[in-house]
Amino acid sequence: MADIDALIAQMTLEEKCTMVVGETRWVVKGCERLQIPEWCLSDGPVGVRGRATGPGLLIPSPSAVAATWDPSLVEEIGAALGVEAKDRKVDVLLAPTVNLHRSPRGGRHFESYSEDPELSSEIAVAYIRGVQSQGVGACVKHLVANDQEFERYTINVEVDERSLREIYLPPFEAAVKEAGVRSVMGAYNFVNGHHACAHPEFLVELLKNEWGFDGFVVSDWEAVKETAAPARHGLDLEMPGPGDFWGEGRLQAAVESGEVDEHLIDDKVRRIIRFLDWAGRIGTPTDHTEQHIERPEHRELARRAATESMVLLRNDRDLLPLAGDGTIALIGPGVAHTSLLGGGSASLEPHRASTVAEAMQARLGDRVIGVATGIDMRRRDLAGDLDRGVGLDEAASLAAQADTAVVVVGSSSEWESEGGDRGSIDLPNQQDELVRRVIAANPNTVVVLNCGAPMSLPWLEDVSAALLAWYPGQEAGNAITDVLVGDAEPAGRMPTTWASDERDTPAFLNYPGEAGVVRYGEGIFVGYRFYDARGVKPMIPFGHGGSYTTFDWGRPSVHGAGADLTVEIPITNTGQRLGSEVVQAYVAPVHAVVARPIKELAGFAKLALAPGETKAACIKLRDRSFARWDPEVHDWVIDPGCYSIILAASAANPRFKLNVVL
Ligand code: BGC
Repeated sequence: MADIDALIAQMTLEEKCTMVVGETRWVVKGCERLQIPEWCLSDGPVGVRGRATGPGLLIPSPSAVAATWDPSLVEEIGAALGVEAKDRKVDVLLAPTVNLHRSPRGGRHFESYSEDPELSSEIAVAYIRGVQSQGVGACVKHLVANDQEFERYTINVEVDERSLREIYLPPFEAAVKEAGVRSVMGAYNFVNGHHACAHPEFLVELLKNEWGFDGFVVSDWEAVKETAAPARHGLDLEMPGPGDFWGEGRLQAAVESGEVDEHLIDDKVRRIIRFLDWAGRIGTPTDHTEQHIERPEHRELARRAATESMVLLRNDRDLLPLAGDGTIALIGPGVAHTSLLGGGSASLEPHRASTVAEAMQARLGDRVIGVATGIDMRRRDLAGDLDRGVGLDEAASLAAQADTAVVVVGSSSEWESEGGDRGSIDLPNQQDELVRRVIAANPNTVVVLNCGAPMSLPWLEDVSAALLAWYPGQEAGNAITDVLVGDAEPAGRMPTTWASDERDTPAFLNYPGEAGVVRYGEGIFVGYRFYDARGVKPMIPFGHGGSYTTFDWGRPSVHGAGADLTVEIPITNTGQRLGSEVVQAYVAPVHAVVARPIKELAGFAKLALAPGETKAACIKLRDRSFARWDPEVHDWVIDPGCYSIILAASAANPRFKLNVVL
C-alpha cells in the first residue's frame, strides 16, 4: 500500500492539477518523479476498445446481457473483459452503462440493461465484480437520468426525488455499495437544473458522503462546461485531454485565484492515486505493448452468452428447434449482414464476425436451399424503396419452396446508436412488409429478431415462431444457429416490456421534452409498473421467455425473520431437453398507504435443469425489497402490514402468492 498522503505532500500544485485532467483522449498523466505512471481509460461495455485500434472480443450488447438473467455468467463475462483490458493495457473499462430503458426510442437502449432497477443492479454488480477481479477498474455510467439522446448535452431532466431513489439511482448505489466500483462517470445532461458533472447533491452528498464512494468521478467526454463549479461539486477528472476547462493551467489558475480550494484538488488526486494503488500501478511504469489475443475460451463464452440471452417469444406447433431433415430458406437482411452490435462509443472492431447465412450453411449443408436478403436494413436512404419494387418477390418465392422459412430482420448501428434517438419503433426499411410476405408464402416461418431495442412487430400474432436474438456480438451467426437447430436452448427472458403501440409506453407523453426540459412525469411507474397500474396488456411482458422444454413448479416456502427472508421453490424439468427456468419474485404491498407499484421485482434465480432434474430456486429478500422512499423524511421506510411475495414466470405470469406480515 502506497502512503498516499505522503505522495500528495511531495507534489506541487501544478503536478496535482495535471493528474486530474486527461493528457490525450484516453490517457491521464501520472507524476513520473514519484513513480506514479500514466494510465488509460477505454470503452466499454461490449468489449475493450484499447489504446489503439485493433480487434477485440465482442460480447452481446447489454440489453442481451441483462436478458440472460444470470449474474454468475455476467461475472464470467466481466472477468473475460478484465483480461482483455490487461492485454490492451487499459486500466479502467468505461462500463457498465446502467441508465434505464425509459423511452423505447432511446438511442442507447441497446447499451443499457433493463427497465427494472433490481435486474439492472444485479447484472451491473456481477459485471463490475468480474472486471475488477482482474485488477482493472470498472466505471459505472452515466450518473444520472441519462436515458435519451435527444438534446443529450443540454437537456434538463426534471425528476422527483422518489423516482430517482427507487428507479434511477439503485443500479449506481449497488455498483458502489455491493460491487465496490472504482469509478463513476457523470452524465452529459442536467438533472433538476444542475449539470450532472457539477451536481453537489449527487456527486458529493449522495455518492461520496451517503454511499461512502472512495473511487473517482470522471466526466463524460467533453461534458465539462466550466472550471470552478465541477471542481467544487465532486468531479475528480476531466476527460478527454487536454481538457477544455481544467487543462493547460486553467484549474491551477482557479486554485491560485482562490476560486477552488486546494484541499479539493488533494482529494481528487488522493482518489486517483488510491485507484492506481488498488490496481497495482504505483511504481509500475506503463507498458505500451498492446496485444490483440483471441482466446478460444473467450470465444466460447461469447457464444454461450449469446444463446443464454436469446428469448423465445413464441413457438407454435414446436416449430423450433428445426428438427428432422426438412429444407430451409434463409431470408431477410440479417441473414447475410447479421448485426453484431449497436453504434457509438459502445462499438468496436471484433476479432471475428459470424453471419447467420454462413453458420446455417456450415451446420445444415444442403438443407439450406437458398438465401434471399430482401432488403438492406442497414441503410437509412432506402426507406420507401420497397414501393419502388426492390426484391421482395424473390424472397417470397424462395420461402414457398422450403419446408421452413427463417427470416432474420432487425436493426443496426445505423439506427440504434449513441448520439440520436430512433424516429419510430418500427423495424426500419419496411421489413414488416417482408415478414408479412414470407408468412403468406409459408406458414412454417420463424422470425429471428436481430436488434437491441423494442420493435412494434405488428405480425407477431401471425408468425409460427419468433426468437429475439438481440445484438449477439461476434458469435452472432453461430449462436443463432445453435438455438435454431437446438444445439443450445434459448435461455433468455425479457429485461424490458415491449409494446406494439408506442402510445402504450410509460414515457410516451413525456418524451422527448420541449424547451430544453424533459419531465419524467410517469414518476416511479416505469416499465411493468406502468402496465400493471394502467391495466394495459403489453405485447411482450417483462420477464417473458419460452423454452424448448417444460417445467413443473413445486410448493414454495418462505423462511427467515422480519424482512430478511428466503423464498424457496423446487422446479422440475418435465420435458425431454435441457432447459433453464427463471423464477422471479415480486413484492406487492397488500394495502399500500401511498401510491405504489402493484408489484416490484425483488429478486430472481435462474436454474439450468437436465430432463427430469429438480432443483430449488432460492431468492433472498431484504429490507429494501419492501421499502419505499419517503420524500417527506428523505429516507427509506417500510410500512408495517401485509405483503404478498409473488413467484412468477414473467410480470404477466404469476404462479404462487405467499403472504408475509412485517
Ligand atoms: C459516451 C461515454 C463514453 C465516452 C468515451 C461519450 O460520448 O457518452 O459513454 O464512455 O464517450 O468514449
